[in-house]
Amino acid sequence: MSEQTPTPVTIATLAAMKRAGEKFACLTAYDASFATVLDAAGVELIMVGDSLGMVVQGHDTTLPVRMEDMIYHAQCVARGSQRALRVVDLPYRSYETPEQALGNAERLMREGHAQVVKLEGGAAQVATVRRLTTQGIPVCSHLGLTPQSVRELGGYRVQGRDADSARIIYEDALAHQDAGTSLLVLECVPGALAHDITQALTIPVIGIGAGPDCDAQVLVLHDMLGVTPGKRPKFVKDFLAGAGSVREAVQHYMRDVKAGTFPGPEHCY
Ligand code: KIV
Repeated sequence: MSEQTPTPVTIATLAAMKRAGEKFACLTAYDASFATVLDAAGVELIMVGDSLGMVVQGHDTTLPVRMEDMIYHAQCVARGSQRALRVVDLPYRSYETPEQALGNAERLMREGHAQVVKLEGGAAQVATVRRLTTQGIPVCSHLGLTPQSVRELGGYRVQGRDADSARIIYEDALAHQDAGTSLLVLECVPGALAHDITQALTIPVIGIGAGPDCDAQVLVLHDMLGVTPGKRPKFVKDFLAGAGSVREAVQHYMRDVKAGTFPGPEHCY
């Protein structure tokens, strides 16, 4: 008897989960082995994040990450995953114009087997999102704390704390949806703002440090396994502490995300 291939998760699957009020779980991965573990555990979405610049390559920001790095790690992850939707980051300065974004997004899809490409930035990226999506390239937008702008932001700080900056993030989210983006990552924003954006959008909203009311959660794998050195950000929980294996840690993460018990109040802004 041949082994059954699992039904792949698509953007439509995640949109249906949002409509049904069912939360989904996302994690980053950068290699085939961990991708296999996440896929087998049932994580719906695997992000090949440019966070690899920090947790794999040892840089202190994501800025040095190149297209070649993203393609290499996306290829590794693609070999290890059959079911989860694969979202791959466009790295720093690889999408300065809509045309450059189109060329590099095509490379991530053709060479890196990405199913969705992710880009950071608000109003300035709306034209690029529209260009990609009208060319049939699915996009995930990333708002709030956008690590590729860490120099401009003056550090890894919570965004949208005051009424003006919250309104800009809210309006950017609507504009990106209007431009055709399929998914939105909201990073390090107050839970109340993430709640309002999640309610206002029809596309799924994936939170990281954005409170419990998003449609889904994502964490950097090395953070949720307690591997990342240094001070742990407030929104991170070490799921390996108290679990017997990486697989069990991932299962606990999924259980808590789906039940809405992670993030708890102690992880929120
Ligand atoms: O680079 C990354 O891994 C990310 C996610 C954690 C959202 O952008």
